[in-house]
Amino acid sequence: MKTKAAVLWGLHQKWEIEEVDLDGPKENEVLVKMAAAGLCHSDDHLITGDMPMQLPVVGGHEGAGVVVEVGPGVTDVAAGDSVALSFIPACGRCEPCSRGMSNLCVLGAAIIAGPQLDGTFRFHAKGQGLGQMCVLGTFSEYTVVPLASVIKVDPSTALDTAALVGCGVTTGYGSMVRTGEARDGDAVVVMGVGGIGMNAVQGARIAGARVIVALDPVEYKRSRSFEFGATHTAATVAEAQALIADLTRGQMADVCVVSADSAEGAYVAQALSLVGKRGRVVMTAIPHPADTCVDMSLFDLTLYEKQVRGSLFGSSNPRHDIPRMLDLYRAGRLKLDELVTREYTLDDINTGYADMHAGVNLRGLIRF
Ligand SMILES: NC(=O)c1ccc[n+]([C@@H]2O[C@H](COP(=O)([O-])OP(=O)(O)OC[C@H]3O[C@@H](n4cnc5c(N)ncnc54)[C@H](O)[C@@H]3O)[C@@H](O)[C@H]2O)c1
Ligand SMILES: [Zn+2]
Ligand SMILES: [Zn+2]
Repeated sequence: MKTKAAVLWGLHQKWEIEEVDLDGPKENEVLVKMAAAGLCHSDDHLITGDMPMQLPVVGGHEGAGVVVEVGPGVTDVAAGDSVALSFIPACGRCEPCSRGMSNLCVLGAAIIAGPQLDGTFRFHAKGQGLGQMCVLGTFSEYTVVPLASVIKVDPSTALDTAALVGCGVTTGYGSMVRTGEARDGDAVVVMGVGGIGMNAVQGARIAGARVIVALDPVEYKRSRSFEFGATHTAATVAEAQALIADLTRGQMADVCVVSADSAEGAYVAQALSLVGKRGRVVMTAIPHPADTCVDMSLFDLTLYEKQVRGSLFGSSNPRHDIPRMLDLYRAGRLKLDELVTREYTLDDINTGYADMHAGVNLRGLIRF
């Protein structure tokens, strides 16, 4: 079939909106008609090369839609089902999956490879195969994805709200609550309150944190963070340090989630300076691949038992945590509608990303 998709043909180029060919679903695959897709910063890392992926690629890894057709062997979902797409495929049976770490499923190796799990392409244009970001490619009217990435959601769920739980919401919430283990009464900091960080703020609020500092250089992000549960804001690390020291009588924070637009070695030391004894620094932002140097106090690490933890999808299990996020939303505890600042058509995707860089969106959303 033909479908309209946003394709990235080379580094430092814009998304090209074009009609491309899409094969039908093969074994254990599902054809989905997309309803909405979120504009996560990670797709922008494909353009800068911070996310090293073979190009060309159909972008997008956050979205929800309706199943149109299933391939051989698919019995869990059927045509007409509402589904959210998880940016991490989870098989449910590999070693990490069976240990409850399905965010680290062995299938994850494919998410920045390009082709589908079987090594072949579903999208084609100009005589060549197009990869799919995170084996999804949600910046397309239709896409074919592995069953392992498909999470069936309650049919009453509005698909624009379900779109964001496949990456941003669950990653941010999980970074704070699952990886960072934030608890009631804690003091926490979120470094970078965009689409991911705002959900770390919500996670902290839901976990019962007493001090939640939103640290971001952009005034708009800081001012909006109060709606999601921030108790204080800071524009710089120095400001956050003074604030946290004052609010905790010098004990400092229990958790600092780093969810800035990209991760830099220097941020590790900055985040470590904000946490206290046995404090956890959670690295969620995607780093520059060549950045291998971190300058930090090893003395603090050992003598204060400070910890640095990496976080992929907020250490969440897609099949458990995606429905959990939607349950929290339905219970009025988790804000999803308020996260979407602006909606775009697929044709306007480059404007959406320009707005993300300008700092005027918590999350931009493509509505198909
Ligand atoms: N680990 C994962 O599983 C995972 C999943 C999704 C996204 N990510 C990554 O998380 C990061 C955030 O993504 P997003 O979609 O929220 O991006 P975003 O652009 O919406 O938000 C980034 C925020 O960081 C702020 N910022 C920039 N520099 C800062 C600094 N030095 N200190 C504090 N704040 C700063 C920006 O003003 C912005 O508000 C990206 O690197 C993205 O690739 C990681
Ligand atoms: Zn994402
Ligand atoms: Zn697995």
